[in-house]
Amino acid sequence: MSDITTGHYPYAEEFGVVRGFPDEGREREEILAELGDIADRENRFWREGRVSGTMYCGDMDHYEFVGEAFTKFLHVNTIQRDICPSATRFEGEIIAMALDMLHADSIDSGREPAGTVTSGGTDSIVSSVLAHREEAQAVRGVFGGQVILPSSGHPAFRKGCHLFGLEEVVAPTDETTGQVDVDFVADHINDRTVMIVGSATNYGHGIIDPLEALSDLALEHDIGLHVDGCLGGFILPWGEALDFPVVMPDFRLPGVTAISADTHKFGYGPKGSSTLSFRDKQLRNRLYFLDQGWPGGKYFSPGMAGSRSGGMLAATWASMVSLGRSGYLEKAKAIFETAYAMQEVVSSHDELRIIGDPSFVFAFVSEALNVYHINDAMAELGWRFNGLQFPDALHMCVTLPQTAPGVVDTFAEHFADAVAYAKDKGDEHAASQAIYGGLPPEFDGFVVDTVSSILDAQLSVPPA
Ligand SMILES: Cc1ncc(COP(=O)(O)O)c(C=O)c1O
Repeated sequence: MSDITTGHYPYAEEFGVVRGFPDEGREREEILAELGDIADRENRFWREGRVSGTMYCGDMDHYEFVGEAFTKFLHVNTIQRDICPSATRFEGEIIAMALDMLHADSIDSGREPAGTVTSGGTDSIVSSVLAHREEAQAVRGVFGGQVILPSSGHPAFRKGCHLFGLEEVVAPTDETTGQVDVDFVADHINDRTVMIVGSATNYGHGIIDPLEALSDLALEHDIGLHVDGCLGGFILPWGEALDFPVVMPDFRLPGVTAISADTHKFGYGPKGSSTLSFRDKQLRNRLYFLDQGWPGGKYFSPGMAGSRSGGMLAATWASMVSLGRSGYLEKAKAIFETAYAMQEVVSSHDELRIIGDPSFVFAFVSEALNVYHINDAMAELGWRFNGLQFPDALHMCVTLPQTAPGVVDTFAEHFADAVAYAKDKGDEHAASQAIYGGLPPEFDGFVVDTVSSILDAQLSVPPA
């Protein structure tokens, strides 16, 4: 990868840098050839099945089909529903499928389950925080309330609190099980509590929080409970149906008010889509912003976005209906089997301990050696784990590319070498660190510098 990640200006040497508006347009063929070339190189990085998470499907044939569906509606603005009733159909049916998968049929008849399609997991979570804030404000007169979330909960909940002026109360997790401390949550619920949170699974350790207990608390105090199924929402239900030792905590738990489940992860849809399902339409409708006095006309739209892409809805819908229940089950079976086989490989090394009781995504720590040395050695062999902190750990999220024949065997072989390397390195400083997302080698260094370099790289305009 290092040959193509030249600092802030990747591909500059080969394809130049656009420093301002080009006077004349370029030939389409040339542009497509350049894009194809770049895409091929970057795809090569994960197609061997050595990258944790991120590339959930990896089936180029499926991507091509989803892309074709996207193309047919990429120009469509879903806020203009009179000229694109298709958007109403696609969004409604995506939500109908998500609600079905999440057992909305168990919701009592006085409620009307509903949902919305958002631009991703963070959008779904932030939107849920907003909906719960608005609900608490309207129904209970709570202004500037609080959200109680596990320390292992995704930063998107904190982002939501930050954006919407709520206080975050962070509940600790148990070192052995990785689950949130329910007693802490119970002790901190008060009149200002807008919602509590549990993950299924959390990102870092792949742990499902004790959602039955959280559901009881939510019911007892009549507050919201969001289940973060961004990662697990589109795979745990199938794992449960296949009798793997997992259960999706969904609307069967009566205290659950909202569930996020990402179509752009194990829904195998295009990047940029997620579902946010609600037990009751009233909560979903809290997401709508209405401006009746605007000279541009009475305006209303849900959530953060205004215009949204019809292409995204069409492509997400196409991904789901093309696979159907049987397609998702087949893929889930391969992923769970592979994940348990990889966990066995890790557990065969006495120096390592897997945190809690995970499934398709798992993390391990070590008291005996520095796990970042394992990461360094695995990276040399083309593997890309995710580095975690508090405690130092590595995680692997198993996706379809790992299910290809031979990947687990190669993993076992490379992993044994990496553990031996780490033992050899002892207390020496390891090159890799706990930063979400990978880093090109030249960004290695002090964490604050690293983070500001990434921001510079993402926000800067190339100098002349
Ligand atoms: C458990 C969990 N929640 C939320 C998110 C946020 O999703 P996104 O990156 O699509 O915004 C992630 C992303 O990995 C996740 O794993």
